[in-house]
Amino acid sequence: MRLSDCHNHHDFRRLAERRLPGPIFNYIDGAADDESTYRRNTAAFEACDLVPSVLRGAPEVDLSVTVMGQKLAAPFYCSPTALQRLFHHRGEHAVAAAAARHGTLFGVSSLGTVGLEELRRRHATPQVYQFYFHKDRGLNRAMMQRAKQAGVEVMMLTVDSITGGNRERDKRTGFSIPFRLTLAGLLQFALKPAWGINYVTHERFRLPQLDAHIDMGSGTMSIGRYFTEMLDPTMNWDDVAEMVREWGGPFCLKGVMSVADARRAADIGCAGVVLSNHGGRQLDGSRSAFDQLAEVVDAVGDRIDVMMDGGVQRGSHVLKALSLGAKAVGLGRYYLYPLAAAGQPGVDRALDLMRDEVLRGMKLMGCRSVGELNRSNLRFR
Ligand code: LAC
Repeated sequence: MRLSDCHNHHDFRRLAERRLPGPIFNYIDGAADDESTYRRNTAAFEACDLVPSVLRGAPEVDLSVTVMGQKLAAPFYCSPTALQRLFHHRGEHAVAAAAARHGTLFGVSSLGTVGLEELRRRHATPQVYQFYFHKDRGLNRAMMQRAKQAGVEVMMLTVDSITGGNRERDKRTGFSIPFRLTLAGLLQFALKPAWGINYVTHERFRLPQLDAHIDMGSGTMSIGRYFTEMLDPTMNWDDVAEMVREWGGPFCLKGVMSVADARRAADIGCAGVVLSNHGGRQLDGSRSAFDQLAEVVDAVGDRIDVMMDGGVQRGSHVLKALSLGAKAVGLGRYYLYPLAAAGQPGVDRALDLMRDEVLRGMKLMGCRSVGELNRSNLRFR
């Protein structure tokens, strides 16, 4: 199986599974507890159907949108995700370059493996910095300052991770940074020597957003422990209001789910909210962002930009979310599997396919621009 054989999300996932050591594949592929929210995220899109309009003559289709002051050529973007150089040695560079080619924004994680400054310099497209709120307030201020100096366009605070989700697949393999694998996990690395050779022959794995501030190297730091030990579980609305003021540019909250919280985000001056359950990786049993979208758009859509992520695998999913009023849709695993499978050409191909699907879908819907999609072209069963 090669990249040219990949025609959709499932193909990329299969190719990634072949190339990645099991513990790494399962870190991407897994979610919390019974993974029921993870499954629901994609299934939610099946609860409704698109109702096309015909004979409207739509030869030219404009896919551009403006979110949080950023003009994007497509209504989807690459959400921030952690540890990308573990999946492919070019990591964030590959994703950022592909996002730039598509004229869309990409996120850099606090747990990113390429420095946010370097990414800002090398890739000419809007950049979001995904922020985790640490117990150490000095560290938080220093990290915001760094992002501001680098010229990052949008600050995105993750609010659904004051403690680590129960990722049982990672418990079984011992997945952590740096690795402290179980014997079974180690054996799975031995099965993928090509990954290992690639890993040791490229620049050393680092967490440059954090390693200037935190000693991540000594001992084992699992993702769950990072959340539980380093992040501040007392984070509240006053803290965030202060951050919004201090940042002074577009600020958004990722992981808001309730109408009341979305209202509050608007009240403290956020430019946007991303409805998200962290790809089902945090609170299992949480509602899917798509299921929650309409009521949040109704409540705050005229004040701030509402985005969503979780389970998006097809152009039709994007069209459904836009029809309910999302301003743009975030992709996560959708670009991570192709990154792992083939680096930048993989991510490029996945974004090309997504763009083609959205474009084709718009034509078949009889819509010339994203703004023409609305609830009248969507029916719930
Ligand atoms: C995760 C974090 C790091 O879901 O975003 O693994």
